[in-house]
Amino acid sequence: METVAIFGLGFVGFPLAITYATKGQTVIGVDINEQHIALLKSGVSDSCEKVNGRSIESVLQEVLQKGTLQLTTDPKEAMSKADYVIIAVGIPVMPDETLNFTWLDQAAQTIGSLLRTGQTIVLRSTVPPHTTRKRFCQMLENASGFKAGEDFYLGYSSERMAEGKAFEELTTMPTPVAGINEASLQKTQHLLSLVCDHVIPAESIEIVEMSKVIENLSRDVNIAFVNELALFAQSIGLEINKVIAVANTHKRVKLLSPGPGVGGYCIPNAYYYLSNVEGDKHPLPLSYKSRELNESVPESIVQIAEKTMQANRVDPRKAVFALFGIGMKDYSNDLRHSPSIMVLNALKKRGYQVRVYDPITEWKQAETVSSFEDLIHDADCLMILAKQEEPRLSDIPYLAVHLKKGALIVDTRNTLNSAKVIQEGLTICKL
Ligand SMILES: NC(=O)c1ccc[n+]([C@@H]2O[C@H](COP(=O)([O-])OP(=O)(O)OC[C@H]3O[C@@H](n4cnc5c(N)ncnc54)[C@H](O)[C@@H]3O)[C@@H](O)[C@H]2O)c1
Repeated sequence: METVAIFGLGFVGFPLAITYATKGQTVIGVDINEQHIALLKSGVSDSCEKVNGRSIESVLQEVLQKGTLQLTTDPKEAMSKADYVIIAVGIPVMPDETLNFTWLDQAAQTIGSLLRTGQTIVLRSTVPPHTTRKRFCQMLENASGFKAGEDFYLGYSSERMAEGKAFEELTTMPTPVAGINEASLQKTQHLLSLVCDHVIPAESIEIVEMSKVIENLSRDVNIAFVNELALFAQSIGLEINKVIAVANTHKRVKLLSPGPGVGGYCIPNAYYYLSNVEGDKHPLPLSYKSRELNESVPESIVQIAEKTMQANRVDPRKAVFALFGIGMKDYSNDLRHSPSIMVLNALKKRGYQVRVYDPITEWKQAETVSSFEDLIHDADCLMILAKQEEPRLSDIPYLAVHLKKGALIVDTRNTLNSAKVIQEGLTICKL
């Protein structure tokens, strides 16, 4: 049985800690956020993840009771006991498009200053290529006075899980690993194979770092492509999802689904993780354009709504806009970089009247209403921006009864059958 310390108990680190604890390892979860640790210690979590159909809270309470998961804000306690240390903290992109390494640097300083010989350190944060060796390792070595690969082991393993599927994907997703030397690779591989079914050893840390970033970037670029096509199809009166369904019957075509933009912590950051790499490097105009395009979709959605309402003789300035789903993607309570919030801001900037409802997010603002019925009652425009468990959302006659007569539905998640919506006397725009 190994003792694994996990630094950073957010969307990644917390399910990872539970996964190791339920697989029989002793886990010490460390976070700098005292309130977060206090809540978790009391068995409370706002995570939407499910563990084999069970709520994460019930599993949390179980592993806390068994003692296989301990939680602390004290890194000393964790570092004095751990054989393995995993870091899962973020590197946010700042408004000026530079990267903020504060969390990662602090973690490196703290861990480095408490490092013991023979410990294995594995970075699982998504990072720009060269970060592990040139930044993280240097800091660990400087703070400890030790040499990576000799006095301690150092590895990198990309985290590929998607929020909402964390427990399934932390174990079933093939997971690349690399080490600063062969011994570090072996240790990292061992740590990962305690929970992952399929661990893929790679030639270098830099290859794994960059592969992770381009996995995210490929989604940004491919989503930008279908979003562009969606806006084009909409402008010529075609439903993109129906077009894509036919195109995807081609054996070598695999178009993704369009949406109101791209949200969360991973995909929108990817371009900046490459553009901020130091040195004389080749430019990335396609990736940049894709980022720009995905950022512009929320504004395009508002313009489509305005144009359609005006064509139906509805003045958007006198209308009520009802926004359903404020999380950054379907069934998520993560609000980071949410396209829904960008749509909301674009509407508010114009001075329009807006209501917002999302059954699971913490979004409590002046425009938030507390029920789906309150959201759609007498509204002129319903915007479906992210799916959530809400049976009445697909009940078109119910929508027709509660929305204003002839109201517009902007369906960015392909949730409704357009013909049935029109049959009920409503208008629909799909993206
Ligand atoms: N969210 C995802 O779906 C996802 C998927 C794959 C990879 N990733 C990557 O995983 C990393 C973590 O992402 P996240 O979404 O879990 O971030 P998060 O912001 O939800 O969690 C990070 C946590 O780290 C804590 N923290 C910061 N500095 C610390 C320190 N020095 N010591 C201990 N705790 C510290 C914060 O308080 C926070 O709770 C990022 O690099 C992200 O890009 C995220």
